[in-house]
Amino acid sequence: MCGIVGYTGIKNAKDIIINGLKTLEYRGYDSSGIAFVNEGKIEVYREVGRINALEQLVKDVQPAHIGMGHTRWATHGKPAKENSHPHTSTNRLITLVHNGVIENYLEIKNELLKKGYTFSSETDTEVVANLLEDEYKKTKDMKQAIINMMKRVHGSYALGILCADSSDTLYCAKNKTPMLAGVGEGFNMIGSDAMAMIKETNKFIEINDLEFLVVSDKNIEIYDQDGNAIKRDSFTSNVNANDISLGTYDHYMLKEINEQPTVIRTLLKEYLDNGKTKIDSQILSEIKNADRLYIVASGTSMHAGYVGKYLIEELASIPVEVHIGSEFGYHLPLISKKPLFIFITQSGETADSRVALQLVKKHGYKSLTITNVAGSTLSREADYTLLLHAGPEIAVASTKAYVAQVTLLALIANELASNKLDLNLELSKVATSIEDIISRKDQIRKIVTDRIVYSRNAFYIGRNLDYYVALEAALKLKEISYIQTEGFASGELKHGTIALIEDETPVLAIISQKHIALNTRSAIQEVRAREAMTTIISMEHVANDDDNFIVSDTHELLAPLAMVVVTQLIAYYAALAKGYDIDKPRNLAKSVTVE
Ligand code: M6R
Repeated sequence: MCGIVGYTGIKNAKDIIINGLKTLEYRGYDSSGIAFVNEGKIEVYREVGRINALEQLVKDVQPAHIGMGHTRWATHGKPAKENSHPHTSTNRLITLVHNGVIENYLEIKNELLKKGYTFSSETDTEVVANLLEDEYKKTKDMKQAIINMMKRVHGSYALGILCADSSDTLYCAKNKTPMLAGVGEGFNMIGSDAMAMIKETNKFIEINDLEFLVVSDKNIEIYDQDGNAIKRDSFTSNVNANDISLGTYDHYMLKEINEQPTVIRTLLKEYLDNGKTKIDSQILSEIKNADRLYIVASGTSMHAGYVGKYLIEELASIPVEVHIGSEFGYHLPLISKKPLFIFITQSGETADSRVALQLVKKHGYKSLTITNVAGSTLSREADYTLLLHAGPEIAVASTKAYVAQVTLLALIANELASNKLDLNLELSKVATSIEDIISRKDQIRKIVTDRIVYSRNAFYIGRNLDYYVALEAALKLKEISYIQTEGFASGELKHGTIALIEDETPVLAIISQKHIALNTRSAIQEVRAREAMTTIISMEHVANDDDNFIVSDTHELLAPLAMVVVTQLIAYYAALAKGYDIDKPRNLAKSVTVE
């Protein structure tokens, strides 16, 4: 969480940093701040709220050629000006921005307090600023001060640092939190991701954990934590600045929902050739040789994993387990003889999944990351990567990444099943079905205003694959409309949760699977008998005429791809009706880079 962008070079740092922060706002958006060097002096500006507020605050600041900015997702201390970054050390020698969590900050803070350092925030970050000042005062050498600091702090950090005595230089240090350097002609940058810098450059240098950088407008020096210089070539990113523009849409979420048919067609081109799967043969043989697949993921990506499990087990009879990243990282279940671990992550930066990957690596197991972001941490650290090719997903609520993940898992499942299905045909049908849903979005909007939006809570129910869709549907609705929503296996309601059904409680049923359609319809009767407000979203071949929304048919195993789109639009219109910030829901961030 939190986003960092820094610039040193010929242009006005302010404009570049503000633009960079706007693209990073998805990482955290409760407050922001910026530091510039003007006439050798470091000036700091901080504001609570969105980047627009910060932009206003600095609008009359004179042009500077070096600076760094930060957008915050609060961990230590509430969103308030004093907790916003940048933080400055007691004697104003060090100013820094931080993304991550310093685990031993209290211990260091107590030591620094005894030495007379003062603190004006509740953050762990301010401790690093004062620690660096303390080390710098001892050594009068910023590189050595950073080395000493890195040996002292435990935890995760991406740091952008300015020192009052070397105000033409940006420093940066990284451990377990994403950070990249951007390479330009006459300028250089640091940033939490490529998108924050893409308007200026498409050349980047990776930074590994426990490395730090000394960045001037002409040079980027990389060092390990012992101060040894490291040589590393830059790479060219294919992220396109246009991919992150909103175009004619009001919200990124709606844009991304609309892009889903294209995402499916792109994946067909990327991974199918004349009906044959085009997946790296080494990856395929790792998957085929595994006696059990372990999918590890969080949130929406985990829900895609459940659908993947169903497809792989159903089509290819290979056992699959799905695990929550944050649980798996601290407890390895009993593992089969020939496992393969599959990490599903849109961002490739989710800290919970990364901890799990490290555990898997420690035990010497092979791993594959399925991600939307080439070069992301989980991609670099796993043995293999398969890309989702969905284009940047900006809205915090994940939509097209889910569809891409399920599509790719379907392609893998089908390959494992010796191409039982004609996926070129079947996935094309899915794309068309999604287009049809989107063309009827006004009907969905009406369902939302008539039946859902004024409720405090809601339930999605379904069975088997429909249950997995219900889980994702519930996450989407609660995440952006703040209606407390749970996804339930429809048969499970009567074992306790049905007690929550009251007059008019919205219960939305997903029905796309023939063999359990009647079971879910029975569950609907049960909640109707308790005065629930039921809404049935069904697929044509199992639909009743009076169902509330009927989705045109796809192959049953691929139905989640279409059914989920209805629920994405339900969430979108619920948040829209309530006037909430759809792309940046409260308390959340797009990349969850802290545990
Ligand atoms: O980047 P990842 O796919 O690893 O992110 C995992 C979750 O944080 C993410 O899917 C989250 O649940 C979404 N915001 C839900 O819409």
